[in-house]
Amino acid sequence: MKKGLILYFSVYGTAKLVAEEIARQTNAELMEIEPVVPYDSDRNHYNSLARLAKREHDTDMRPQIKNRLPLEDYDTIFIGYPMWWYTFPMIIYTLFEAYDFSGKTIIPFNTHMGSGDGGTYKTIKELCPGANVLKGLPIEMSDAEGGAENAIKNWLENINYQVLT
Ligand SMILES: Cc1cc2nc3c(=O)[nH]c(=O)nc-3n(C[C@H](O)[C@H](O)[C@H](O)COP(=O)(O)O)c2cc1C
Repeated sequence: MKKGLILYFSVYGTAKLVAEEIARQTNAELMEIEPVVPYDSDRNHYNSLARLAKREHDTDMRPQIKNRLPLEDYDTIFIGYPMWWYTFPMIIYTLFEAYDFSGKTIIPFNTHMGSGDGGTYKTIKELCPGANVLKGLPIEMSDAEGGAENAIKNWLENINYQVLT
């Protein structure tokens, strides 16, 4: 069996912290989903990011991904993102349209401030009917900033994730 891959998209760094902790516990490869046009990560500019994200959502945009993601080399792929306007950022739609996840195991996780996974794990199942989508892990932003080590450990045990070296 091949090693797992952790893909994540993160602007304020909390989904990244979760991704890094998953990598630490699983030995899976870590890879950021990088947008062609970077988002403003200054939390003082939240309102303008919120407006941009809303516009992207309402116009059904597909922000482009800058880097090539070597999915063909992996069978098991964690996918992490923040909750934006009650769903995932539109770049995650770009990901699912640009890459074929058929035959792969997808393990979603996300950060949020109260919306949980916002129904996105179900959306992933709908967008990737040929993939096996395992139970995801929603983590509150403040918990993510605290490391979320135990929540991640319990979740990985719960989904029976096999750590490969
Ligand atoms: C544009 C925007 C929209 C957001 N919408 C939601 C939301 O609908 N529900 C929610 O629980 N949190 C929402 N949040 C909070 C983020 O999900 C939370 O801050 C998350 O930890 C950010 O992840 P990141 O640090 O990886 O970028 C939103 C944040 C931003 C910037």
